[in-house]
Amino acid sequence: MKNIILCGFMGCGKTTVGKILAQKTGMQFVDMDKYIEEQENISVSEIFKKFGEQYFRDLEHNVCCEFADKSGYIVASGGGALTFERNVKAFKGKDKIILIGVPVEVLAERLKNDTTRPLLQRPDKEQAMKDLYDKRMPIYLNACSIAVDGVENPNAVANLIMATAGLKRKNPQKFKG
Ligand code: S3P
Repeated sequence: MKNIILCGFMGCGKTTVGKILAQKTGMQFVDMDKYIEEQENISVSEIFKKFGEQYFRDLEHNVCCEFADKSGYIVASGGGALTFERNVKAFKGKDKIILIGVPVEVLAERLKNDTTRPLLQRPDKEQAMKDLYDKRMPIYLNACSIAVDGVENPNAVANLIMATAGLKRKNPQKFKG
């Protein structure tokens, strides 16, 4: 197995859980949005504003292809990335795609004050989120090979992923006797 790709809706914990997984496994961590922002020297919000969503989706696709060619990474994908067939295709078969599932009501609460996600900056935010969630969940489920419940605290979710995906800890504790 080459990489672990974390997918799921905005706010499900891909970045937080991914960082913990990287610590536990010793694998490298990359957050796709942050990677794009560093490469382009501009925030995701600004990219949407200045160049439009399609431009962002193309950058996102390039990053998917780039990391599909690497190994040993925990990749926190952007919430939209794995809803596109071309990105799923880049990873599938080689990498393990893991969905972090969180009910939309919990996500709405987590994201109620968020100002960084361009798709959620609208007056009908809650309804738009629900519509997008309903549209995307079946796509995520189809793309992933493992789905875990992401409602617990991030460390518990990371442990669940470790166990479910059979990931090995770096420096496993040695027990005497
Ligand atoms: C998006 C999710 C965001 C970011 C962009 C678009 C989406 O990532 O890639 O705002 O389409 O769901 P997070 O899931 O990390 O918030």
